[in-house]
Amino acid sequence: MSTRPRHYLGLLDRYRDRLPVTPGMRIISLCEGNTPLIPLENLSREAGHDVKIYAKFEGLNPTGSFKDRGMTMAVTQAVHEGTKAVICASTGNTSAAAAAYAARAGVRAFVLIPEGKIALGKLAQAMIQGAVVVQIEGNFDDGMRIVKEMADAAPIAIVNSINPYRLQGQKTAAFEIVDELGRAPDYHCIPVGNAGNISAYWTGFSEYAAVSPRTAACGFCTDACAFPHPAVCDTRPVMVGYQAAGSAPFVRGGPVENPETIATAIRIGNPQSWHLAWAAVNESGGWVDELTDEEILKAQKLLAEREGVFCEPASAISVGGLLRDIKAGKIKPGSVITCTLTGHGLKDPDTAIKQSDGAVLRIPADTDAVKRAILDRM
Ligand code: F0G
Repeated sequence: MSTRPRHYLGLLDRYRDRLPVTPGMRIISLCEGNTPLIPLENLSREAGHDVKIYAKFEGLNPTGSFKDRGMTMAVTQAVHEGTKAVICASTGNTSAAAAAYAARAGVRAFVLIPEGKIALGKLAQAMIQGAVVVQIEGNFDDGMRIVKEMADAAPIAIVNSINPYRLQGQKTAAFEIVDELGRAPDYHCIPVGNAGNISAYWTGFSEYAAVSPRTAACGFCTDACAFPHPAVCDTRPVMVGYQAAGSAPFVRGGPVENPETIATAIRIGNPQSWHLAWAAVNESGGWVDELTDEEILKAQKLLAEREGVFCEPASAISVGGLLRDIKAGKIKPGSVITCTLTGHGLKDPDTAIKQSDGAVLRIPADTDAVKRAILDRM
């Protein structure tokens, strides 16, 4: 009897019994998922009220964002159906993931991005991974409209989150959280843009809660397993979504014409998963709120400085919003809270450097000068 765990092969392998994976399917994977659930010890202590805050750091997926979860499933299905090309509109991360999985599958990727409003790292990813990058003189919502029309005109698979296979893949993040904690969190906080991810998490938490006590193996285990085993869990978290103030259709109650925010990943005025997201928020007794760009940047910096976690601005909104809601008394004392940090900070070096202006000391290449500079700051 072997006690050595198998090599981790990605989330379609690990959760295949809960996903539309069929026998013999060629799985297109970069070993995505299995991201860390980092206890934010300093921020939890400082927030008080006996809360425990965890960050699901999705920036540690292969292309640096949660999109890989959805893309492994969507591209696997597209290839299974014989598709030769995929297309998406994107604020950046979807395009990076689509390009990567298409490259791996050997199919073409066409990505539509808003001109001048995409973080540098994301653009670099789509370019080097061989996607056909189309910059449109418009925003994400324009791109989404065009992509839907294109798919009617050409044999090409849309891999935006309107593709139901995307949400299937993304729901596994909720499975991992419950498996890791051994229970569902009391609250789950998440950035909302096109609103696919909040919908996917709700599906995941709901599916796990519906099978109680759960008996299925985690899909990864054989006889021994280095990963947490599935927990018995019949509860679901309160779902809390956060949007950028200039791009907050859920807070306004309808589409926003010209969305604007420093958090370009969620610069979206007309979310495609509108009804699914409202269902998640309402069924869970949750809410959606907005943060200003200033609050978003402050949260990004706080996470980096106090916890050593560098996520992109759009991701930090989940922790920034949560800390504000704890202060406002909206979170029950003693709660376990998980926050999704959707993308890595390295995606957007420009914003990080601008935020940290003045943090680099310029001094002569001289030991005494360096000594003085360091000793002054000890
Ligand atoms: N955070 C990041 C870093 C994102 O890239 C996105 C969406 C979201 C949050 C919001 O997730 O759309 O499921 O509500 N980015 C998409 C893209 C739109 O094109 O990369 P959502």
